[in-house]
Parts: sequence; structure tokens; C-alpha cells
Amino acid sequence: MKYTIACFMAFCVAGGVSAQNKSEVALKAKINGIVSKMTLEEKIEMLHGNALFSSAGVSRLGIPELTCDDGPLGVREEIKRFDWASANWTTDSATFLPNGSAIAATWNPVMANRYGVVIGEEANARKKNVMLAPAFNICRMPLCGRTYEYYSEDPYLNSQLAVQSVKGIQSQHVAACIKHFAANNQELNRDSVNTIVDERALREIYFPAFKAAVQQGNAYTIMSAYNKLNGYWCSENDYLLNKVLKNEWGFKGAVISDWGGVHHTVAAANNGLDIEMGSSGPYDQWYFAQPLLKAVKEGRVPVKTIDDKVRRILWVIYHTSMSTNHPKGSIATAAHAKAAYDIASESIVLLKNDNHLLPLKAGNIKSIAVIGDNAVRTFALGGYGAGVKAKYEVTALAGIKSRFGKIASISFAQGYKANYLASNSDEQNRGYDQPDQKLIDEAVARAKTSDVAILCIGSNREYESEGHDRKSLELPFGEQALVNAVSAVNPNTIIVIMAGAPYDLNDIKKNNHAVVWSWFNGSEAGNALADVLKGVVNPSGKLPFTFPVSLKDSPAFALNTYPGKGATAEYKEGILVGYRWYDTKKIQPEFPFGYGLSYTDFSVNHFSADKTTYGKNETIRAKFTIKNTGSRYGAEVVQLYVSDPVCSVLRPEKELKGFKKIFLNPDETKIVELDVKVSDLAFYDEGKKSWNTEAGEYILQLGNSSRNISKTVKIRVK
Ligand code: BGC
Repeated sequence: MKYTIACFMAFCVAGGVSAQNKSEVALKAKINGIVSKMTLEEKIEMLHGNALFSSAGVSRLGIPELTCDDGPLGVREEIKRFDWASANWTTDSATFLPNGSAIAATWNPVMANRYGVVIGEEANARKKNVMLAPAFNICRMPLCGRTYEYYSEDPYLNSQLAVQSVKGIQSQHVAACIKHFAANNQELNRDSVNTIVDERALREIYFPAFKAAVQQGNAYTIMSAYNKLNGYWCSENDYLLNKVLKNEWGFKGAVISDWGGVHHTVAAANNGLDIEMGSSGPYDQWYFAQPLLKAVKEGRVPVKTIDDKVRRILWVIYHTSMSTNHPKGSIATAAHAKAAYDIASESIVLLKNDNHLLPLKAGNIKSIAVIGDNAVRTFALGGYGAGVKAKYEVTALAGIKSRFGKIASISFAQGYKANYLASNSDEQNRGYDQPDQKLIDEAVARAKTSDVAILCIGSNREYESEGHDRKSLELPFGEQALVNAVSAVNPNTIIVIMAGAPYDLNDIKKNNHAVVWSWFNGSEAGNALADVLKGVVNPSGKLPFTFPVSLKDSPAFALNTYPGKGATAEYKEGILVGYRWYDTKKIQPEFPFGYGLSYTDFSVNHFSADKTTYGKNETIRAKFTIKNTGSRYGAEVVQLYVSDPVCSVLRPEKELKGFKKIFLNPDETKIVELDVKVSDLAFYDEGKKSWNTEAGEYILQLGNSSRNISKTVKIRVK
């Protein structure tokens, strides 16, 4: 009987795979049938925007419009069809989800997946087929204005999270639009800069998350970036779009331009772009409208190229709005709020806790001074770029009141003025970095008479914004003066920094003993933060990028390649991005990649690999035990780095090749296995134009940050 069931199961599984193939074959035939019935004019209509966030269908054949909306922080509010003004709907209040670097700080692919599911469900409720998210350009340069939207400086962490975000979104029959392809790593001059990046750096650093999102996540759409890459606009880059994305990686979906990011008709059409999008009409004058029709008629763009684009778009439509069992979706539900809370809780990074002030011991605290503009500020909107009309957003002050209000008196002082708008000129923003002595005095008075001062500082969505890079790493708004003044009068000062990118925390690191990093952490930010302060949540976030001691330590500045000379930014550091640079060049960071503390302690032991020598097609199974040796439930992110000490080319000191977040009760021990494919130890060989795993010794290094390696094991590759 058992045997019969097993055979039946095997038959079903095999049948299931071929059923999926069969349905793809049937879909292909159906799409070909539709294309054969379309006029050239109808085809061209599908290839460009017909409004700000849609492109045409073919109503005669029952094909709907392709509708999209912005992420990544949540589904953007409905705007008017032809301009950016609010459509004033009352049904589009959404869940505000933690920003990209916050998701990355969870180091938990499950959280990335849950993020995606929420986005997908809310997109369906709003009848959007394509979500312009996630965004995961590599955090190459700490000042980039969109660092908060992006994930990490590391391609492996980036890839693991990107795949799960895409899978989550697309599980709801909504297309993810992974962006911005490729090497869009600064906002300054983003519409004109020509980034010069060697092929090895592209393959090892800038491409992996896109490749993984396409090949493992089956991303349905991708957005070409504004910039040029190695001399060609990304929207008309044959190497990028045709050769790598479509031919090598087998991307089946549609390439959508960034808004207004197309420059020519024929080059873009022949070099891989499928849909032109932009911000203003007249839509029939766009490159992919009348000019494209003319180019096809004149034989400069083949009809078969147009047909391929239409097929790709129809394929996306059949997997989204025209899919069978298309979910109805839901918006701003309690389950979505719970997902936002869980992600935020896991993203918060404990940077310092020297005197064990945290978690706050409820019984001893009768009064709390909450200080800082960020304690009462919301982050769902602000600056340029997509935000969310949040159904609600719990501020830090509201969260602290709800968690501590019954046991302590809570007072508030603003502490500083955030006098900065992304839309202002430098002249109008002048003085934004100056402290406000009156506000500092008020804050000091509050702090003096309170048992604890919680200082909520950092930046905001005006200061970190699309279209701009920050000018320095310094904390803005005179915040350091506020920190100094408050810390001087209250030894129980906790610094909470809310921001999405690295800042200069040298003085805080030196002088303060309790430091917590939060983010633009979504609708539930204040509750998650207060639960971390109270110890209801044990912090488990780890930094997804390095905090340099000084800007000049970071590769783009050390090599003087930012913002570039003339219109060109040459990525001279090559593969040495992020910790790869700091480690290889032996530069001490302020806080290293992968760093974050907990309220409990862990010990990692018995690190081993299943063999000593491996063939190039094998998988290394690394194994270790981890024990929670403290007294609280908590999670540790164990990180597996690999180094290749002897190689024919320069290799970084170490590279992340695996990680796992492990949740443990006090005294609990778990045995953990991490698999690394030997082929993933390869470097990209520019001479051979292929991946190369050289034979020899490799060192597996296990740690809880890139600078705290506790165990190593040597292996050999044959
Ligand atoms: C941004 C994209 C965004 C698009 C539509 C562009 O300026 O770079 O990320 O999806 O606008 O709002």
C-alpha cells in the first residue's frame, strides 16, 4: 500500500511539473494567437505609457491595460491619471512597510517574503498588476539618497532578500518590478552619469541580486536605470538587456524604463527595452509611440522585435490580471500590520549597551523624557520619490507612551528643528545643521528631572531623498550638540537613531553607552521600538552596510570617484565594495557590516565541514552548534564568510556566502547546517569571460559580524 501511495505521489509530482510546462506551452500558443490578430498600431500602443502609471491593452481582444504603482515602502496612494496630484481617494490608505535597509537588517528572508506578500495583497486590492519594487541597487556609497530604499552593500545578502521579496509579491499574482538595472548607485547626476564598471565588478557585485531575482524569483518585470553603463544608457544597453538579461539569464518578462529614462527610439527598441514609461504627455509623441511606428515602417526596427515585446507584456498580463484564481487582495489589514511590526522588530540594531541600561527595568523607572523631533515625526511621506498614504503610523513617542505610560510619567521636548526640505535650494536650506539653543535648553531641563532620557534623532524622508545625495555623513539639524547637552545631565540617556543610511556616529560611539538604530520603520515603528527598549523584543538586527569612521575611508571617496569627473563615474574600486574594501585595505570601520548586539549571549561551537576536499560541482555542508548562554529568548545571525588566500587574481579578504538567523530559548542549543556550493566560491574571470573556481585552499569563517569571526575551517577544492 505504502509503495502504491509513493508511486502515486511520484506520478503526481512528475505530472505537476509537466502540467506547469504544458500550461506555459499552451499560454505561448495563446499569446501567439493574440499577436497574430493585432495590428501594428495596436502593438505599438502596448509599448508605451498611456497615463502616468499604465500602458494600453487591446480592448477589442479583451486584453486589459497594464497598471502599475510605486513601492517599495508600500502601495503608493492613487494619483490622478495624468498628473502627480492625489486622486483624493478614501480607500487607498495602506500599510507603510519598513524601508529596504530595514528589511535587510533583519537578515531574515522570511521577513522579505512577508513584506512581498503584503505588497502583493495590497496591490491587488488597488487593482495594480505591477509593483515597482523591490529596489536593491548595491549600497556602494554611503551618501546615496536612496540608500534607505536599497538593501545592502553585499550581493549575497541582497540576493537572498530580493528573491524572497519577489516571490512574496508574485505569490499574489502581482508582478514585481525589480529596479534599477543597473549600477544606479548615486542620485546626484543620476540622469546623466555614465558609470564605468568593469565586468568582474558587475558580475560579482552589481548583478547577483538581479540575476537571482530573475532566475530564482522568476521576476516578471525589471526597470532599467536612468544612468548610462559603460557608455550606453541602461534603457538602450544591448549588453545589459539583450545579452545578459534576456539571453544569458533567460528573462521571460518585460523591461520597463524608469520614468522618463528613454533617450532614443531605435536604439532602445533594438537593444532590449519593452515598455517606455514617463511622467508627462503627449503620450503619442514618446519614443515608443509614433516615432517607433515610423521606425518599424521604415524597417529600422524589425516587426519581430515588436512582436517579442508584445509577447513579453502579454505573458506578464496572463500571470497577473488575467491569471486564473486571481486573488482579490486586501489592504491595511490587521495581518498586514502584524507583518510590518514583525519586520520592524527584527530590523532594529542594538549598537551599544555597555552599562546594560537596556532593556529598561520597568520597576526602577518613574519618569521618562522623550526628546527629539524624530520622536513625533512620521516617515511614510517626504522628499521626492514614492511614499505611502499610511492608514496609521505609530511614532516613537506614541509607542513609548503605549508601552511605558502606565508605569512612568512621560514628557516630551522637541530638542531640534528639522529645517530641511528636499525641494528647497541649498540657500533655502541654509542653517539646517545649526543647533537651536532654546530647544536644547528645554530638552536639558526635561532630561535633568527624568530617570531616563530617550533621544530620538537621525534623519527623515526630506533629508534622505530620491534625486539627492547627502552632502556629508554628519548627523543633521545640530543633533550632536543636543546629544552632548542631554548626555551631560542624564547618565541614563539612550540614543535612538532613525535613518536609512550610514551616519557619523564617532562621538556617540565614544561617549554614549546605550545606542539603538531604528529605520523608517513603517506603520508599527513606534511599537516595535518601544518593545525593544522594554525588552519585550530582544534586538536581533544586524547592519546591512558598513559605517565608515570617515567619508574618506570609503572607496568612492578614497579613490576620488564620486560624484565622478564630468559626466563619468568610474568605479575604480572594482569588486572592493563595502566591507570587501575595509577588510582588504585594513581600514577600521566605525561599525562593521553584519554587526548588532543582543540582550542575551550566544556561543558557537563545533564548526566543521562535511569533507576536507571537494570537487568543483559539489556542495560544502558546514555545520555548527549554537547555544543561548544568557537568560533571555533571542536570535543570532550567524554569518559564513569565505576567503581564498592564494588566487591568481585579487580576492577580497572575505566574502559572505551563507547566513542563518537562529532563534533560541535560554540554555537551548541547536545544530545548524549551512550549504555552500563550491561553484559559489568562484570569481568572474574577465579574460575567459566565465566563472572560475580555482583549485586550492579556502577558509570558511564563522562569525556574528564581518569583524567578529570566532571559528574557521580550512577546506580544499580539487
Ligand atoms: C524612480 C523609480 C520610480 C518611478 C515612478 C522614478 O523617478 O526612479 O524608482 O518607480 O520614478 O515613480
